[in-house]
Amino acid sequence: GAPVKVNISKIEPGQQMTVEWRGKPVWVVRRTPEMLKGLDSIAEQLQDPQSEKPQQPAYAQNPHRSIKDEYVILVGICTHLGCSPKFLPEVIPDETVGGFYCPCHGSKFDLAGRVFKDVPAPKNLEVPPHMYVDDVNLIVG
Ligand code: FES
Repeated sequence: GAPVKVNISKIEPGQQMTVEWRGKPVWVVRRTPEMLKGLDSIAEQLQDPQSEKPQQPAYAQNPHRSIKDEYVILVGICTHLGCSPKFLPEVIPDETVGGFYCPCHGSKFDLAGRVFKDVPAPKNLEVPPHMYVDDVNLIVG
């Protein structure tokens, strides 16, 4: 599949945009300062808080899993059995932060796509290869 160009200028703080890349949904989420603060507070509840397993390119191998703090780019497919997790920006069930909740078997991911402990999904959501061509345009792939 060809790389996909995405204009991110219309995404409001706290909102998600979905584009298609190689037949897969790819999410771009614009995180607020509060959301980023939440990410820093929950490391102990996560399986792989530093994203040490290879689910992202090297430039996204950091706790926020992104090039720019504000925007995270994720493949929107649950790492358990491939369902589509729901975006719950305010709060996911029984947690203190927003993120993604998979309705199939209850896996939970934070707003960096990092998987919580004690859920069926074994690893963080994948970050696809991507780069910024300027402040508002991104290329996925
Ligand atoms: Fe998402 Fe099973 S496919 S929890």
